[in-house]
Amino acid sequence: MPKILLIRAKDPARGICAPNGGNSQKWRFLVIKDPEIKQAVQGWYKKAFDEVIGPRYLNSEPPPGVTKERYLRQHSAVAYLTDHFHEAPVWIVACLVDGPNPNRAAGSSIYPAVQNVVLATRALGLGTTLRTRHLLYERETEAALGLPPGVHSYAIVPIGYPLGKFGPVGRGPLKEIVYQDHWGSPYQGL
Ligand SMILES: Cc1cc2nc3c(=O)[nH]c(=O)nc-3n(C[C@H](O)[C@H](O)[C@H](O)COP(=O)(O)O)c2cc1C
Repeated sequence: MPKILLIRAKDPARGICAPNGGNSQKWRFLVIKDPEIKQAVQGWYKKAFDEVIGPRYLNSEPPPGVTKERYLRQHSAVAYLTDHFHEAPVWIVACLVDGPNPNRAAGSSIYPAVQNVVLATRALGLGTTLRTRHLLYERETEAALGLPPGVHSYAIVPIGYPLGKFGPVGRGPLKEIVYQDHWGSPYQGL
């Protein structure tokens, strides 16, 4: 991967200017290129797919806005990405220096930056996804990543050249998820 692309994807004007609680900037971004580290994490990532995620997807109904056929295509893509996770030339691991017991709000100080990285990366014509499945084996994968105590990973963003085209995505209708005044009452403006 040309270095300039990685540098641009990590451009402070994109990733690092994201909002974060109290502007404390406890984020850290670990760029992984070492094939052995990626392979070690991929082993756990695949185990999580084989044991939990794969069976769960196969036994679930398609989410809103997605046909059964499309859902099965997505499942194959997820299986493929699982097997080839470590082959992405670069991973950006988004971390927070969040102490021993991070609470539910912690992630809100890193995911805006992660989304910026994803958007910047895709704007460069590169392929990427936001991944958290490694957290099913959090202790093992964070040890493989060499994270010190008090630091946790919130996403792995693998970056590479896409094999296909990233088309429009499928989501359910807004009227089913936006409420007005009372939980469950449809928003009147839609
Ligand atoms: C918090 C979060 C975690 C995710 N973790 C993974 C992951 O571990 N592996 C993966 O393949 N995709 C992961 N994704 C991507 C979603 O599966 C994807 O956005 C969803 O299936 C919809 O696909 P689409 O965006 O291509 O329409 C994650 C997305 C989010 C927002």
